[in-house]
Amino acid sequence: MGIEIRVEGLKKSFGRQVIWEDVSFTIPAGEISALLGPSGTGKSVFLKNLVGLLRPDRGHVYVGDGDVPRLRENQLYELRRKFGVLFQDGALFGSMNIYDNIAFPLREHTSKGESEIRRIVLEKMEMVGLSGAEEKLPGEISGGMKKRAGLARALVLNPEIILADEPDSGLDPVRTAYLNQLFVDLNADLGATFLIVTHDIGTARVLPDNLGLLFRRGLVMFGPREMILSSTHPAVNQFFNARRQGPIGMAEEKDQAQLDDEGEAPQTMPAPIQPQLMPSDGRVRPAMRRPGEWLAQHNIKPPPGSFIDDEGRDWLKDWDDLIDNGHRPR
Ligand SMILES: Nc1ncnc2c1ncn2[C@@H]1O[C@H](COP(=O)(O)OP(=O)(O)OP(=O)(O)O)[C@@H](O)[C@H]1O
Ligand SMILES: [Mg+2]
Repeated sequence: MGIEIRVEGLKKSFGRQVIWEDVSFTIPAGEISALLGPSGTGKSVFLKNLVGLLRPDRGHVYVGDGDVPRLRENQLYELRRKFGVLFQDGALFGSMNIYDNIAFPLREHTSKGESEIRRIVLEKMEMVGLSGAEEKLPGEISGGMKKRAGLARALVLNPEIILADEPDSGLDPVRTAYLNQLFVDLNADLGATFLIVTHDIGTARVLPDNLGLLFRRGLVMFGPREMILSSTHPAVNQFFNARRQGPIGMAEEKDQAQLDDEGEAPQTMPAPIQPQLMPSDGRVRPAMRRPGEWLAQHNIKPPPGSFIDDEGRDWLKDWDDLIDNGHRPR
């Protein structure tokens, strides 16, 4: 089962450049969370702090009974077995073929024999759609393939926490849809804790249980999908609805003159909240909330048109029917 990650008062700077400070939130065990934010707000740096590849200036990252920044090297090595990490650039070893790259954590962290390693590697390669690419070197495959090889490698140890830095960048829309489905299915099967960094608003709106936004040296908001997607907070509303109006500008932040120019950003109605992506066998994941539940609990009306799927079914009204009938999404 997944483990929660509790971040408290985290601050990171490089020299005089403060990346973010006082970041505190809990990434719930066994749920899918996504972290978004303009380029350069420190999302990749944040993931590296979670696994102890970078050390924060201050603050805590509690995983299990350890506090990552305070672990000794050998404790950190132990803890990393619990993590499967897909780095933004794939971080494959350039001189090793894809098979050996994916087998690497198994050879490094387990005493499994080569025949079992082979079984696991081929299974994960098939899972991410890379069968047949075993002998290729990283330099001989496309960017999207590198991403998927990195993901296969992140999965071989059956991690309890999966961190993925832009797994969908450089993927075509069809592969992105397959990848999102794979994440949902993996979460249903493994119950692992997922934290996915993405720039894809389409992914962010339908995949995760929770969403967070990094902006202006801090975590603006983190919470259940329905909370974030119905929010009228200017930066949250702007980002998750991909609008130009609002505090976020081309160069990450707009200056005061630019904001004054635009006048008060009009209060914009959040876009309809689509039904959440279901596992392909129609199961309801333990982490999945009933559609509209969070909104109802907080007395917030769903944005008009919410929870209607492509076939016109209303998930708010028909949820019980949908799951009774073993609903299968397309
Ligand atoms: N090792 C490092 N030394 C110095 N500065 C760094 C280092 N790593 C990252 N930075 C700086 O930290 C800031 C945040 O970088 P990071 O890669 O985390 O951004 P990001 O939010 O992941 O952006 P993107 O969406 O483009 O991937 C950037 O200004 C970057 O230059
Ligand atoms: Mg990044």
